[in-house]
Amino acid sequence: MKVLVLYYSRTGNTEKMAKAVAEGAKEAGNVQVELNYFVEADDLGGFDAILVGTPTYHHDMPVDIKMLFEGAAARNVSLKGKPGATFGSYGWSGEAPKLVSEIMKNKFEMNLPEAPLLAKYAPDQGMLDQCRALGRRVAESLIR
Ligand SMILES: Cc1cc2nc3c(=O)[nH]c(=O)nc-3n(C[C@H](O)[C@H](O)[C@H](O)COP(=O)(O)O)c2cc1C
Repeated sequence: MKVLVLYYSRTGNTEKMAKAVAEGAKEAGNVQVELNYFVEADDLGGFDAILVGTPTYHHDMPVDIKMLFEGAAARNVSLKGKPGATFGSYGWSGEAPKLVSEIMKNKFEMNLPEAPLLAKYAPDQGMLDQCRALGRRVAESLIR
């Protein structure tokens, strides 16, 4: 089972969350976890679960993430039924993780049972613990 933790981060806040999410996913055991800030759209289909970390800039997701899902849609990459989650750091409005969740659910028919996990600016220890727990839950949902 392969879990992807994909993230974008300009000032490191979402990156800290992503590292904690990946650590948590590894705790589930029996899963291979890839933490990366770039994947090819064609390779997305090779993962059994996908967690996306995205900060909010200008009330939107970063163009890198938008292009990845555009590319996957154009190539008809199938992610149907796969578990996923989104998370990210924000400053005041924090739309991006919800926007990405909607694409994953509505366009790709992925299974995202949880609301996005949001950290205001730098994640504190409590937030990093929540990130770790999120990664673990999603990975465990694969091997259960
Ligand atoms: C130019 C600029 C635009 C931003 N726009 C938004 C925004 O529309 N909504 C929001 O919630 N935060 C906004 N932020 C705040 C960032 O989301 C916040 O700094 C976040 O911690 C960045 O995460 P990162 O370190 O992972 O890049 C903006 C920050 C900058 C520098």
